[in-house]
Amino acid sequence: MGADTLSVTDNRTGQAYEIPIAEGSIRAIELRQITVDDDDFGLMSHDPAYLNTASARSSITFIDGERGILRYRGYPIEQLAEQSTYLETAYLLLFGELPTGDALDGWVDEITHHTFVHENVKSLMEAFRYDTHPMGMLISAVAALSTFYPEAALVDEPANRLLQAKRLIAKVPTLAAWAYRHSRGLPYVYPDNDLGFTGNFLSMMFRMAEPRYVPDPVLERALEVLFVLHADHEQNCSASVMRSIGSSKADPYSALAGAAAALSGPLHGGANEAVLSMLTTIGDVRKVPAYVERVKAGELRLMGFGHRVYKNYDPRARIIKETADAVFEVTGRNPLLDVALELEKIALEDEYFVSRKLYPNVDFYSGLIYEALGLPTAMFPVMFAIPRTAGWLAQWLEGVVDPEQKIARPRQLYVGADERDYVPVEDRVSRELVAV
Ligand code: ACO
Repeated sequence: MGADTLSVTDNRTGQAYEIPIAEGSIRAIELRQITVDDDDFGLMSHDPAYLNTASARSSITFIDGERGILRYRGYPIEQLAEQSTYLETAYLLLFGELPTGDALDGWVDEITHHTFVHENVKSLMEAFRYDTHPMGMLISAVAALSTFYPEAALVDEPANRLLQAKRLIAKVPTLAAWAYRHSRGLPYVYPDNDLGFTGNFLSMMFRMAEPRYVPDPVLERALEVLFVLHADHEQNCSASVMRSIGSSKADPYSALAGAAAALSGPLHGGANEAVLSMLTTIGDVRKVPAYVERVKAGELRLMGFGHRVYKNYDPRARIIKETADAVFEVTGRNPLLDVALELEKIALEDEYFVSRKLYPNVDFYSGLIYEALGLPTAMFPVMFAIPRTAGWLAQWLEGVVDPEQKIARPRQLYVGADERDYVPVEDRVSRELVAV
């Protein structure tokens, strides 16, 4: 019997199997050989929500949720947040190594010169209602970009893939800022190629009549840190959507629009928006204990707490808390910070949260920073999507060249009706139906 194997006995048949173990996992397809008779399809693993299924071998991001570790391509997130920039981190995610000085200059120059979007995108933006959620606008605008670049469909060509990746990293901030300007009824601001990535974004968001927008260096750097922290997070809901859509060889704009849609939900990137609504609803430090009791009674979830992978303090939340202090020095203290701090203090001591290993996640403090920057809550998930674009693209690029990948196609356990004959309308019995 090999040491790196799993011995399985099927008690239905008494048959024994030896299944290889590699990299701490077994291949689910190995289970298929376990059958009761010749007609049997073979054993499957049933794993709703991918609780214990590795869908890819990946060398992009490493997370140890128990120990609160996050690394991109081996580099600790703390070092990248302190020393890197978003565009350098994006290069690292896509190419696997930090760029040399020349490579970085070339990369920044290229991204900077792809920040403009086709003028028709403006009419697309203008077609939305005045109160459209900016995340809906971003998702639609990203999907629409595929129609401007039909060659993006040629996903088997490496140079073409890279060109689309550069375009997406460069143009998503422009679309995001324009979605915000639309919601405010303000004119769209064109990119300023003399500014850095985050400075330019702030300019596209906030520039008014001044001939040149000068970003506050503290806020510019804070945004850079937030973007580095949000750049990737391995096989989360939106990254797996990106890979899934990419697996059908759809173009990256369509895939990224799907990933952004996945991100928009309140259990994922929409959580920072939900955190701010929660803090606003609580409104006062004295009301925190009563709110926590409602959470414990199962009436509500504490938004910004808990994570599928982190069963320890999210390392990004720690850095964001420090960044928030720097931002508040410039913008003034956000009064909701006291509510957040009290909530965190109570939750970290309370048995309910301790026993379930519920700690603040990346979204708990990021919303407070975004609010201090003057952003409406609806923009928060958009602020998440901008930097995650690099991570989605790195995941997509890895997926499309992985020889093991095929079109994503999960199995199901069919639990519906057996075959039955069609019933004419006049013979049908009236009953209350729920859509399932
Ligand atoms: N508040 C209160 N209780 C919670 C919370 C929470 N935020 N999160 C989990 N729990 C409880 C659950 O009720 C459950 O308790 P039980 O065992 O008594 O039933 C237990 O903790 C386990 O929760 P699950 O839902 O099984 O955990 P899962 O891994 O599926 O969910 C998730 C992870 C979605 C992040 C969850 O913790 C949550 O809803 N958090 C709030 C939303 C949020 O902040 N999302 C952002 C995630 S980070 C990101 O996407 C960037």
